[in-house]
Amino acid sequence: MVLSDLTVSLLLAVLPTCAIAFGLYSTYRQWVDSSTRDIHYPPGPPAGSFLGKASIFPTSRPWLTYVEWGKKYGDILHLNIYGQHIIVLNAVEDAVELLERRSGLYSDRPKDPMITLMGWDFNVELMPYGQQWRAHRKLFQHCFRSKSSIAYRTLQSAKINDLLYALLTRPGDFRSHCKETASAIMMATLYDNDLKPDTTDYFTKVFDEGVKRAGNDDIAGVTFLKLFPILRYLPTWSPGARFKRSASGVKQLADRMRDIPIDYVGKGLLNGTVGPSLVSDLLENCYVQKEFDMVKHLATSSCVGGIDTVASSLTSFFLAMALFPAVQKKAQEKIDMSMGMERLPTFNDRTALPYLEAIYRELMRWAPVFPLITAHVSTEDDIYKGFYIPKGSNVVANVWSMTRNEEKYPEPEAFNPDRFLDAEGNLNDDDTVLTFGFGRRICPGRHMATATLWLAMVSVLATFDIRKKTDENGKEIPIDRDYADALRSRPGPFECSITPRRGNSAKLIREVIHTISPESTIGSDTR
Ligand code: HEM
Repeated sequence: MVLSDLTVSLLLAVLPTCAIAFGLYSTYRQWVDSSTRDIHYPPGPPAGSFLGKASIFPTSRPWLTYVEWGKKYGDILHLNIYGQHIIVLNAVEDAVELLERRSGLYSDRPKDPMITLMGWDFNVELMPYGQQWRAHRKLFQHCFRSKSSIAYRTLQSAKINDLLYALLTRPGDFRSHCKETASAIMMATLYDNDLKPDTTDYFTKVFDEGVKRAGNDDIAGVTFLKLFPILRYLPTWSPGARFKRSASGVKQLADRMRDIPIDYVGKGLLNGTVGPSLVSDLLENCYVQKEFDMVKHLATSSCVGGIDTVASSLTSFFLAMALFPAVQKKAQEKIDMSMGMERLPTFNDRTALPYLEAIYRELMRWAPVFPLITAHVSTEDDIYKGFYIPKGSNVVANVWSMTRNEEKYPEPEAFNPDRFLDAEGNLNDDDTVLTFGFGRRICPGRHMATATLWLAMVSVLATFDIRKKTDENGKEIPIDRDYADALRSRPGPFECSITPRRGNSAKLIREVIHTISPESTIGSDTR
């Protein structure tokens, strides 16, 4: 037997022993902590035997299980999975107190050696709380804070006009149009305001491949590696190192996502062939490699975080309108009353349309893109409401539970924008969109995402009717409200009929397409 084989065999023999020792140690810590301090972890489901601990962890739609456990154990839950403490927060007040008011303690992210192996350490969302994250976050604030996001409105309007045109000519593909719109806005803002449709499609493909491969369960679920980071030094060829071979495949795709679009901008700047963009502005002010890398990370993280999320919400909007026609009708009346019927809406109409704002809030409540927010990790021991939250806990806000709070939102599965309005029809103060997260890690792209979604919704409602499809007997075909069982939620397949609302809808759309947007990036029809 060669020495390296021996090493591998030894490792494989030693690991189960280590796992048992680790489990015993964590149980011992738990006992020491609670007995000496006279404080306890928050309640939670019984862990069972040591080897059974992982089996309590819900693998399918965990947010629903946490709601059920919440009814039995309370709003703050504790799970201990092989020594990893997980705190689930089912109530908004607790998330605000811990993740916002005590954000100095709760802003780290889980450490996962796979992130570096997979080449995903560019992603600001996964960066540990520290200097590097702070520098990136500052750049994000600079580019995407509320005021800066106004600069992207012309592009957003043009791409949303393209969406209207695509719905007019190929309504059956509305789902792809949602994704294409989200993609076109993000890519053109970042890489080239005049980005050609073919290049947008190519970049989107590069991102889709990278994200899909990284989300592969085979790779993401390598819990053993989290417990024993030393395993990352296993040679790639050795037995038990399949995760390393997979990770290297993921890394190649991650490198393509990071490098291909930015190389396009870099070359375009040298040759004078690229239009203005956020990245080209930032690159003009880069003097050292570190600054250049930050721009790359910003752009790649924005595409990873800001395309499928926006596309998911936009698709949910079509679902909500098909399922709740009375809401749709009321919104259309409000639009007609406020701006007439002879033009398309613009961002300037926003303040005059509180009912549309309420639809936006209700959409984000009814179909939160993140039912569970990306885990925040605590960097110090803490006591909250008499419970002990140890340093290194993964703290997860259960937005699903918060948005289904029946005291605040009666009949939570009904799509009812009126919950955000007072008796006079003015917006109430319930204006926090929980699915954007909390505290120092709150989504920095939320202003841009909100603007895209608002204008898309109001423009579609002004020009189209969205209905359930009917069968040959004119009977409505029911739609299932089915969502993918994924941490980033999206509606499952459904069909609806999308038809121009009035005689002048098509004319209005064709007019803006020809005057504002000479080259549509959404859909490939000739017009
Ligand atoms: C509907 C659209 C979107 C939703 C629902 C959403 C949601 C979220 C959530 C839940 C987080 C984690 C927050 C936390 O840990 O508390 C997050 C982080 C992030 N989002 Fe978004 N997002 C959206 C759009 C965008 C857009 C358009 C961009 C880019 C312009 C973006 C970029 C990011 C980045 C970079 C982070 C990491 C922040 C950090 O860890 O410091 N997102 N987003």
